[in-house]
Amino acid sequence: MKILSIETSCDETALAVLSVTGKNAKCTVLAHQVASQIELHKQYGGVFPMMAKREHAKNIVPLFLETLAEAKMLTRHSYKKNTKKVVQNEHDVFPAALVKKLEIALVREQEMLEIFLREIPRLKKPKIDTIVVTVGPGLTPALWVGINFAKALALVWNIPLAPVNHMEGHVLSVLVPKTKKSSDSFALTSKQFVLPALSLLVSGGHTEIVLMKDIGKYKILGATLDDAAGEAFDKVARMLDLPYPGGPEISRLAERARRENLPKEIKLPRPMLGSKDLHFSFSGLKTAVLYLLRDLTAANVTIDDKKKMEIAREFEDAVCDVLVAKTLTAAKAHKAKSIIVGGGVSANKELARRLTESAEALGLSVSFPTSTLTTDNAIMIAIAGYFAKTAPLGSKKFIAQGNLAF
Ligand code: KG4
Ligand code: ZN
Repeated sequence: MKILSIETSCDETALAVLSVTGKNAKCTVLAHQVASQIELHKQYGGVFPMMAKREHAKNIVPLFLETLAEAKMLTRHSYKKNTKKVVQNEHDVFPAALVKKLEIALVREQEMLEIFLREIPRLKKPKIDTIVVTVGPGLTPALWVGINFAKALALVWNIPLAPVNHMEGHVLSVLVPKTKKSSDSFALTSKQFVLPALSLLVSGGHTEIVLMKDIGKYKILGATLDDAAGEAFDKVARMLDLPYPGGPEISRLAERARRENLPKEIKLPRPMLGSKDLHFSFSGLKTAVLYLLRDLTAANVTIDDKKKMEIAREFEDAVCDVLVAKTLTAAKAHKAKSIIVGGGVSANKELARRLTESAEALGLSVSFPTSTLTTDNAIMIAIAGYFAKTAPLGSKKFIAQGNLAF
């Protein structure tokens, strides 16, 4: 089975083609493309949903062509040539009725519709068995670009379409082995997990603790009540005049503070560390940094690189203390046999070090995604899509499974 996956939930346009064969679900990545919008959003210090939407709309068709080319599935209808001019092949245009349907399907995606009608009719239908697309959670305008593109492709080529939950993608991203070279295959089975597993999902938009009893069987045990962990990293980075995305920047400064053994004079709160539930709150921590900077400035302390390093380390320590403590409490309470970490913040080295150390002391293994798959990507969406039941376009199942109304 060949799966085309589409992901546009935030600021990455991502597409992948995976081939899954045999009883052991041997999986090979045939194509993996990501167009990041980070450079654009950097200028504004964060992601604006409508700007993200426009970028997705501009990039998705060209990226799709690159994806097909990488998967060796890009075949254009041949042109009949005569000596003077190139005659358009009759396949170069869709029948009027289909164009009408596309115009309706893509009525809110005019820019994409234009590129779609220019490029897609020229292509021979690729050997794709199913299309899967992220339907949430994410930025609504951004998500719609991927969903509408997926629906349009499913319509013109009559390929089944299935929805994928972005967070499930992050959980299942750990199925890709860390040692994998691009052509290596790997198995897609629940045997790869030590179940039940406790999953800590930490990204720019979400912070969740999820119990996984099996693939497809999840229970959200806790979540942030306000800012997500990654969002807190991004906002604190902005206060320190560091570029977006803030996570890697804060982490870099914190590492330096540890290496240089800078004094630990700054103290920040560990929000909800003592609360009995498994929820998080990072907005107070962000405000504490704001007040700290205000107080330091009032006391004529210069916020130089060294000060920023101290603040970054204390902030990272505070976030890690809370994330690690809650994850372990949840793992113990629900008798989890392993821990999975996913989402952009899973790239944080301090979090990885502490969580691995504390979990292993309890006899629990911890899995992190391979470094290229910590941030949003379409491989994880294809994997989640493989496990989801495919449903024909527009069927009740498709609507019910997605958390966006069609
Ligand atoms: O999962 P992701 O790529 O996108 C969302 O679905 O949000 O996560 C992006 C987030 C950003 O907030 C970014 O600052 C954070 O992940 N991040 C990190 C690190 N690398 C990325 N946070 C802390 N430490 C890092 N090394
Ligand atoms: Zn994500």
